[in-house]
Amino acid sequence: MDYYSLEQIKNLITDESFFERPLGTHARVHSKVLDKFFGYKIPKIEQKLLKSYRSYDQRQDSSNKKGHFRGTQTWIGLHPQILQTPYCEILEIFRVLKRTHPSTVVDFGAAYGRVGLVVGSVFKNVKFIGHEILDERAQEGLRLFKELDIKDAEIRVQNILDENFTPPEADIYFIYDFSEADDIRHIIYKLESTHKDRPYYIVAKGERVNQVLKLKYSVFYSFKQKDSNIYYKSN
Ligand SMILES: C[S@@+](CC[C@H](N)C(=O)[O-])C[C@H]1O[C@@H](n2cnc3c(N)ncnc32)[C@H](O)[C@@H]1O
Repeated sequence: MDYYSLEQIKNLITDESFFERPLGTHARVHSKVLDKFFGYKIPKIEQKLLKSYRSYDQRQDSSNKKGHFRGTQTWIGLHPQILQTPYCEILEIFRVLKRTHPSTVVDFGAAYGRVGLVVGSVFKNVKFIGHEILDERAQEGLRLFKELDIKDAEIRVQNILDENFTPPEADIYFIYDFSEADDIRHIIYKLESTHKDRPYYIVAKGERVNQVLKLKYSVFYSFKQKDSNIYYKSN
């Protein structure tokens, strides 16, 4: 990509079509280019996390003191472009949800806040709240929000599985397989019990969350050949 000043980048992302994927470019390759363009330091941070924790796909053994992150699945060691939903997919999802006129979007397990960047571009005056357990990822996301002047967007450092966590009121909840199926079931239960009388949409990406939700709610929209669906919970 050519050189752009910060002011030019801020201006570019006010137009949602900026996040469209050029024909013939893979979604993850496209996202990698955009991460670099925005100045995200994701590979560096992920490498650092790997120095402190064992990779999610390696078994624990006694030969190495490094252990897994405990209590939830943080996907440390996963390729950074698989860890987060591609920008163009997030765009496609929110273009569908535009007609629902949301006020607040929540991301359970927000990583670096990619969802928030796209929300800020597609919607005007919509609040974004991301919850992320790893401070390193959340701080980098917040740094970018500030630098790119993304209004009304925050990432809270929070374990959403904590007993005293209350899911904020929102119109759209975004869940991309943040942890094991039982943990996902737990947050869905929390959501249902906290906001019994409110309607909302859940964007579900990944096998686990879709397995949990397809038994509960009707599908509002299905993205063919992708592992994403939007569910609707009526009041
Ligand atoms: C698969 S990533 C999805 C990122 C983002 N939602 C997206 O779609 O681009 C899931 C994120 O959830 C975080 N996570 C896992 N367990 C969590 C928990 N109990 N509380 C908060 N965040 C959690 C992980 O650290 C990881 O960054």
